Amino acid sequence: MSEALIKFLASNWTTFLILGLVIYQRFFKEQEEEDGVEESTESDKEEEKSRLPSPEQALQLIKDRRTILPKDYNGSPVTQEDMDKIFEAANWAPTHLKNQPWRYIVLEGHDAIKNYLEFVQSWYTERSDQLSEQTLESYRLKFTGAMADWPNKSSHVALIIMKRNTPGGNFLPEWEEMCAVAASVQNIHLMATALGVSGFWSSHTWCKDCRDSEEMRKHLGMEEGDRLLGAFTFGHVDEDKLKSIRSSRVPVSERMRIVKDKI
Ligand SMILES: Cc1cc2nc3c(=O)[nH]c(=O)nc-3n(C[C@H](O)[C@H](O)[C@H](O)COP(=O)(O)O)c2cc1C
Repeated sequence: MSEALIKFLASNWTTFLILGLVIYQRFFKEQEEEDGVEESTESDKEEEKSRLPSPEQALQLIKDRRTILPKDYNGSPVTQEDMDKIFEAANWAPTHLKNQPWRYIVLEGHDAIKNYLEFVQSWYTERSDQLSEQTLESYRLKFTGAMADWPNKSSHVALIIMKRNTPGGNFLPEWEEMCAVAASVQNIHLMATALGVSGFWSSHTWCKDCRDSEEMRKHLGMEEGDRLLGAFTFGHVDEDKLKSIRSSRVPVSERMRIVKDKI
């Protein structure tokens, strides 16, 4: 570096310092703010807290979620606005590799629900000579109830599908994808509860031969490896009926143990 340049830098160092600070403030600080890396203040933290339900409210929502069958619905339909919120919640379940393996086919209204049940019915009718009397009997028992209540009292029924082998080619173990779908269904049920909407996850055990059949797969446009994991019904329940529906759990202390050293 030439002597003249050194002299010039030495005599103008304050100018360079100020210039540097201005550039930092203008460009880098603004970028940090945009990226949200600015340190949050106490009031930011308070605001963040107030956006969330309190721990007591969160636990209350979880405990208030009840399995409520269509036979107990009053026939009042669930609004589109509520359904949108419910499925937005469904979509925010945790998912390994962000595969989002849930797929929902939402049957909306009496006819769509009835048509689906009629498909199940014809599947059994066509195979009545191939299935055991016990299988047919348990199917008939539940089917009669479903056909009487689901189309008339439930405004929507969502068929729950686990999508296997996602387009990105990330092949996770099946159990992880099933767990993600179950988490998504729990989100559905919790959001429904928050909105005053009642619901129930029908695993379709009563029609499992049809549920797992190739015909059902084709009917719903499912691909190899996809699984139909039953259906979720939606409806409204009268206040006094809702209060009468209870559930219970054994204490969590009987379902966990704390290990502080070796197992
Ligand atoms: C994967 C799964 C499948 C279920 N399938 C059925 C079902 O087919 N029929 C039914 O009556 N309940 C079904 N349930 C609901 C449970 O019976 C219900 O959660 C349990 O009775 C406890 O009641 P609660 O949900 O109100 O706490 C299912 C629940 C889960 C998680």
